[in-house]
Amino acid sequence: MRNTRRRTAILISGRGSNMASLIAAAKHPEYPAEIALVLSNRPEAAGLDYAREHHIATAAVDHKIYAGRENFEAVLQRMLEMHRIDLICLAGFMRLLTGSFTQRWQGRMLNIHPALLPSYKGLHTHERALADGVKIHGCTVHYVVPEMDSGPIIAQAAVPVLDTDDAGSLGVRVLEQEHIIYPRALGLVADERVKIENNRVVGACTHVEHTPLVVPGFDEEEDG
Ligand code: GAR
Repeated sequence: MRNTRRRTAILISGRGSNMASLIAAAKHPEYPAEIALVLSNRPEAAGLDYAREHHIATAAVDHKIYAGRENFEAVLQRMLEMHRIDLICLAGFMRLLTGSFTQRWQGRMLNIHPALLPSYKGLHTHERALADGVKIHGCTVHYVVPEMDSGPIIAQAAVPVLDTDDAGSLGVRVLEQEHIIYPRALGLVADERVKIENNRVVGACTHVEHTPLVVPGFDEEEDG
């Protein structure tokens, strides 16, 4: 374990339930990341209030007032530098980032996506999974690369799709899993327990709903 906690920024656009799960994990003194900044591109994002209540520095960088993505991202970058950020977690951050921004943060920026990538990139993942009749759905934490919803996979969780599911009920169960795997994935990255080999993350974490979470190395150590 590293002896300094990695300073992490969480980027949100909305309610921030994944952000809350990361904040909760980082309250543990041995967690290898601290949440140093919550930043939203929407000043009205509910997640900002939550972060303030938890005494975390917040910033709103309203994308609408900047002409072009580069200008918006230049302000973002300045904020991240001001707060001496090491790692970024995108958590429901609904702005596409340019190739140059993602390249700058490559290996240091994570995203959570509500599907088992590489299936169902983009929006409306639960509706599309139901329309296709898949029987297993889930969520993915991955490193961010310039191509949307791609990049080496750090953690995945699977949930069965039930006959009775609609997008709402399926989404609720997937979100529960998001809240489990995102803190684990950030922990693995912050603790430098994973490495990328040929686009594959070695030491990644998998979870299937209702079974114990599997994190190579991590749980073995915790158990004994
Ligand atoms: C989450 O389900 C997250 O996976 C998804 O947005 C939701 C944000 O919820 N992200 C994406 O769709 C990104 N492609 P939250 O604000 O409660 O964390």
